[in-house]
Amino acid sequence: MKGSGKARAHANIALIKYWGKRDESLVLPMNSSLSLTIDCFYSETEVVFSGDFDRDYFYLNGKLQEKDATERVSKFLDLFRKAKNLDLPARVESINYLPTAAGLASSASGFAALAAAANVASGLNLDKRELSIYARQGSGSATRSIYGGFVEWRKGSSHEDSYAVPIDDASWDVGMVIVVINKREKKVSSRAGMKRTVETSPFYKVWVESAEEDLKEIKIAIKNRDFERMGLIAERNGLKMHASMLGANPPLSYWEPESLVVMQMVHQLRREGIPCYFTMDAGPNVKILCRLSESHKIRDRLIEVFDPNQIIIAKPGPGITIL
Ligand code: DP6
Repeated sequence: MKGSGKARAHANIALIKYWGKRDESLVLPMNSSLSLTIDCFYSETEVVFSGDFDRDYFYLNGKLQEKDATERVSKFLDLFRKAKNLDLPARVESINYLPTAAGLASSASGFAALAAAANVASGLNLDKRELSIYARQGSGSATRSIYGGFVEWRKGSSHEDSYAVPIDDASWDVGMVIVVINKREKKVSSRAGMKRTVETSPFYKVWVESAEEDLKEIKIAIKNRDFERMGLIAERNGLKMHASMLGANPPLSYWEPESLVVMQMVHQLRREGIPCYFTMDAGPNVKILCRLSESHKIRDRLIEVFDPNQIIIAKPGPGITIL
């Protein structure tokens, strides 16, 4: 028997962050989160199950991967093999399409594309909701990359009801300007960083409570297409996540001096009447939520300080596509 499937999935940037798991093996989050899928970063992945292979092989950007990365993929494919009673090794070929100066997290698009491709290759035929449950077990943020536009990941009460729900297709004047501060690999992965925060930060409990409040509010703002309110909630939610990390032991920070330069520029632009708001994840790069129609104005200001190669304009992106 043989089966193959190929799919594309886009990255997403959280406006209400996922930071912390209540179940590490099932990847169940402590709080619900919400993101915008973006068009400019995506992964394309092909999965072939075949008895011709002696083991699983995983190629990323054309390069055969070593044991650790392959094991994470194998473990993920086991979910499909188990569900379909499929006892076949696989070859996985994945390409991350990232603009020249990228170095941004790719686990969301990576695991969403892998889930969608494995779904076809195994013949499991999950619907999108079930697919988001599968993607979640590869990487939490991948749950949300199944859909385009604004997506909520409901934390749920169990494995079966922790999945993503599309809430708005973002087909209004919304965009992001991404400032790539550096491309170096992060010293502490988000997986390790959130674990440390959950286990040691005295601010963690407050983070979870206030993230749930922020989520409720931002959903109303999105529904009303109240851009400024949405941006203010996203900006403060991101800052609270980073505050929870500062309280960890040892303390954790992903910021670099240039990250702060961008944050100050965003506030200056706001004072000048351009609504724009920053958010950061487990790295120094800054994402600026803005009106798509004003993204070029913001870019022009940023290139007074940064190299044009460091600035990427993102539009809302689509959900998974079967290729
Ligand atoms: C800061 O999804 O990379 O980007 O579930 O351990 O694979 P794992 O973590 P991951 O964490 C993303 C954290 C974040 C916020 C977010 O995307 O919501």
